Amino acid sequence: MKNTGNPTGEQRNKVHTDIHGSPAAQSFTDIHSHLLPEVDDGAQSLEQSVRMARTAAMEGIGRIILTPHQRTDRPSVSPEGTARRMRRLQEEIDRRRIPIRLYAGAEIFYRHGVEELLSEGRLLTLAGSRYCLTEFFPEENYAYIRDGLNRLSAFGYFPILAHAERYEQLTESGRAEELKRGTGCLYQLNAASLTGENGFLYKSRSRRLLKNGLADFIATDAHDEKGRGPRIARLADWLEKRYGKEERDRLLIHNPAAVLEDREIWQEND
Ligand SMILES: [Fe+2]
Repeated sequence: MKNTGNPTGEQRNKVHTDIHGSPAAQSFTDIHSHLLPEVDDGAQSLEQSVRMARTAAMEGIGRIILTPHQRTDRPSVSPEGTARRMRRLQEEIDRRRIPIRLYAGAEIFYRHGVEELLSEGRLLTLAGSRYCLTEFFPEENYAYIRDGLNRLSAFGYFPILAHAERYEQLTESGRAEELKRGTGCLYQLNAASLTGENGFLYKSRSRRLLKNGLADFIATDAHDEKGRGPRIARLADWLEKRYGKEERDRLLIHNPAAVLEDREIWQEND
């Protein structure tokens, strides 16, 4: 479905009912979510996952990549476990007629060696693509972050730095640009950081990254249905008002669609 103009809220909601629509449909895709139940500090029960999915659908989200926390020393769920739980959750979501399509993924806490685990299929990329969502200790030193992202790139993956606004190292002048240029990584920002719900520090950092043209994805990083819920509608409206519809769609629809289709997003900007 091609974008033909500025949908009103009502029109947008109509498109959202397009259950299991193609990635080109106008609903948003959330590439970072702890919706999968009982595997990490996200949803604690199937019922809670369903409530979160319902909220996500009302916010205009049509597709969610499940990204449970994964650490190499103690992975919270195996790829098989993710697939099995995802099938069960999708069945429940379909049964309740919530228009959300799920994909499997992971939020990988980076340590040297995760590249091997990814290539052996012991850790999941996003929706089976070459994109992988990666996080580090927020206070990790710059060289380690750079080397880690470089290693992932060298193995043929497209690393996405999760909630890039958390890294103090990147606030130093020119650092955020340098890291992207040097490693080929992409930046994901949290919606609640941009709207200010995560406090002033993350708000100013995330807004600076966005303003400098360094953001590639905005996602919810949802952990529950309340304080850390899958909320995106307010951010989407703000983004459209401040930067225009094209930028809103690039960050919330088109770039995530490239992940689902395993396409390189930067090719589209050439
Ligand atoms: Fe997360």
